[in-house]
Amino acid sequence: MRFSRRLDNLAPYLFAEMERKIAEKRAGGVDVISLGIGDPDLPTPGYIVEEMQRQVADAQNDRYPSNWGVGEFGQAAASFYKRRFGVDIDPAKEFFPLMGAKEGLAHVCWAILDAGDLALVPDPGYPVYAGGSTMVGAEVRYLRLRPENGFLPDLDEVSEAEARRAKVLFIGYPNNPTAAVVEDDFFERVVAFAKRYDIAVIHDNAYSELTYDGYVAPSFLSVPGAKDVGVEFFSFSKPFNMTGWRTGFAVGNREILAHLWRLKTNIDSGMFDAVQRTSAFILNGPWDFVDEMRAVYRRRRDVLADALLSVGVDAPKPKGTIYMWIPVPEGYTSAAFSDHVLEQAAVIVTPGTGYGPAGEGFVRLSLTTPDDRIAEAVARIKASLKL
Ligand SMILES: Cc1ncc(COP(=O)(O)O)c(C=O)c1O
Repeated sequence: MRFSRRLDNLAPYLFAEMERKIAEKRAGGVDVISLGIGDPDLPTPGYIVEEMQRQVADAQNDRYPSNWGVGEFGQAAASFYKRRFGVDIDPAKEFFPLMGAKEGLAHVCWAILDAGDLALVPDPGYPVYAGGSTMVGAEVRYLRLRPENGFLPDLDEVSEAEARRAKVLFIGYPNNPTAAVVEDDFFERVVAFAKRYDIAVIHDNAYSELTYDGYVAPSFLSVPGAKDVGVEFFSFSKPFNMTGWRTGFAVGNREILAHLWRLKTNIDSGMFDAVQRTSAFILNGPWDFVDEMRAVYRRRRDVLADALLSVGVDAPKPKGTIYMWIPVPEGYTSAAFSDHVLEQAAVIVTPGTGYGPAGEGFVRLSLTTPDDRIAEAVARIKASLKL
């Protein structure tokens, strides 16, 4: 059979390959500890499951949804954005429901980019930014995230010619994979840059609610003028342990959302109304559950950081996300170190290169594993390195 050439340029999706390796080991009876994929290990809270059960039983949710979503989801998202970030959202035009942020990130590429266009993509970065851009035949210009810049891209590195050609800029803070957060006027600089060169900004806000040590993540849209240039993607996956539910939304620039709507009316028929109504219910609170999850991840982060220190790795404790981004020991590449710990310690860590070439020299450790397993994973790694 003959297939689309479009797929030839796509790297195999990182976690699909990792899933295969884990399954192979486990089938062989090996007790694998995964610090790999950021898929929360704890269950969706009961109050959300019960609301979904009510919604599934309600016949008003049986029929085709509208791609723009049920009104109450948009209303709840608008009041959440006002309450949490001080951002005004028009629920009719500046809100769009998504079956997870990943779906939206991939599809927005189809709405904005054509073959041969230029996309500005952080390196390292969540793989869908480059993958979605590549899929439509666009060219990816990586923006290197350096530790010395707090893992923020240096927009001055983009040449005048590249900036003029670029149609979209992807950013996301709190950041996956580096766990960096924004603590300065970075978003203001992004808005000025995007206005100057007429670039659409996609801010991936999957981790704003998972922050620690008093840090509160801002919305990109809270910066004056941001709605003129960009949209922000919010996800329920991580703060509410709902990765399997596939729910999220985009807010912001109405032109981008109208184009996304136009595209998606030709692809899917919207998102199950029961999930939308449950998502609205979640946004309307209470939010104590997220406080509990923050406490869980902060504790695990501390366990991991202390365990790493005991093997001589002095990794700073991140203020956000559910990851730690740490340098590999001398003499290893990212891939060699990941392979080593899988083979010698039965621990999965994600090689930094899975997030782009600048991820070389790093691995990402996920906190989605119980405390005792995190400590055991580090002990096993220590033994495997003969430290
Ligand atoms: C930065 C980032 N954006 C988006 C997603 C995907 O979110 P969703 O589950 O809502 O598709 C992830 C998941 O790991 C992520 O890390």
